[in-house]
Amino acid sequence: MQIHRYERWWMTFGFTMLVFFLLLIGVAAFADNINPPSGMQQIDPTKVAQTPPFDRPGLRKLPDGSYEAYYIAQVFEFTPRVLTIPAASKVTFYVTSADVVHGFFIPDTDINMMAVPGWVNSQQHTFTRRGEYLLICHEYCGIDHQDMFAKIEVQ
Ligand code: CUA
Repeated sequence: MQIHRYERWWMTFGFTMLVFFLLLIGVAAFADNINPPSGMQQIDPTKVAQTPPFDRPGLRKLPDGSYEAYYIAQVFEFTPRVLTIPAASKVTFYVTSADVVHGFFIPDTDINMMAVPGWVNSQQHTFTRRGEYLLICHEYCGIDHQDMFAKIEVQ
């Protein structure tokens, strides 16, 4: 079978690019340790309310002066519903779901996560602006999805 010279160039080019991009993905995943964003910490979704630290959701102060906030997402609310945080504090949010996949989004901050049953997701933010922040579920989770929100007060 006769393959035209230009056709052969293009096939070589296409195959080379395929190998090149697969190699890039491999290097990123294994050498640079870049993986899809998801919590590495697992939890039994049927026992969230009994599993520390989610048995006492809310804010904890750490010895270095920063905070941890533990949240449970469940149709159709977040626990805690209101969280009070001192201004200028660095907070690491931890969230898991006790039922279906929810969203965990605080507009005007870096916090934008998924709350996935079986997993604990986390993200950090420093609250520089005082005032009231909204925490909303931005992942469709059922009939009352639009009413799933909580408040964060930075004082
Ligand atoms: Cu929870 Cu939408």
